[in-house]
Amino acid sequence: MTVTPRYIDFHQAQRIYDRIGRWQDTRPLTERRAMDEIAWRGDFFNAAAVLEFGCGTGRFAARLLETKLPAGAAYLALDVSPTMVGLAREALAPWGGRARVELSDGSTTLPVADGEYDRFLSTYVFDLLSPADSAWLLDEAYRALRPGGLLTLASLTPGSTPPSRALAGLWKGLWRIDPRVVGGCRPVELAALAAPERWRVRDRLTVTKLALSSEVLVAERL
Ligand SMILES: C[S@@+](CC[C@H](N)C(=O)[O-])C[C@H]1O[C@@H](n2cnc3c(N)ncnc32)[C@H](O)[C@@H]1O
Repeated sequence: MTVTPRYIDFHQAQRIYDRIGRWQDTRPLTERRAMDEIAWRGDFFNAAAVLEFGCGTGRFAARLLETKLPAGAAYLALDVSPTMVGLAREALAPWGGRARVELSDGSTTLPVADGEYDRFLSTYVFDLLSPADSAWLLDEAYRALRPGGLLTLASLTPGSTPPSRALAGLWKGLWRIDPRVVGGCRPVELAALAAPERWRVRDRLTVTKLALSSEVLVAERL
């Protein structure tokens, strides 16, 4: 199916996710499984500084801080939605100054120094960015990570089974009519974004439950 691009801009993303708020955590089983994969494949036990782009309610950040990250690890979470930032600040309050949540201006240029982080995490955000913004954000993730740091991503993806392909086709059809109906996202392929001269793919898998597929990508910054 040919899909007319209907990428949402960050103003639209802000409005959509301000409205969704806490409902973001009422998520399909596929997404929960994909987040489980990220949580253990991302080697967070050995991380010192995590940068998360599009943190939503902060629930996953809290889970990593509580169960995976070392006691001294720093966490910076960015989001463009003031509602999400408020919820994430609440969720991360127990970790005080070492877990910060900042309201972003919607830009995919990261407000951090070169090589400041050893994990770049973003779940279900690349599937709502335009290809140009995705490419730029990945360049920025490369800049923000130190060599050996890990890119840890999850997003909706077309999947490989006939039912998941059919659902992805239907999803893209809805997205083409009005992207807001599907939260602005559409199935994408993450691994295609990671240039082999910059990233060594450690893990790439597709999780499919009830015909809905997510791609999980963990790649090392070279
Ligand atoms: C589908 S939600 C995913 C939230 C969270 N990562 C999760 O998996 O639960 C997408 C999130 O990305 C945020 N977002 C969208 N565009 C953004 C941008 N340009 N800059 C920062 N955050 C953005 C939204 O506000 C929203 O919280």
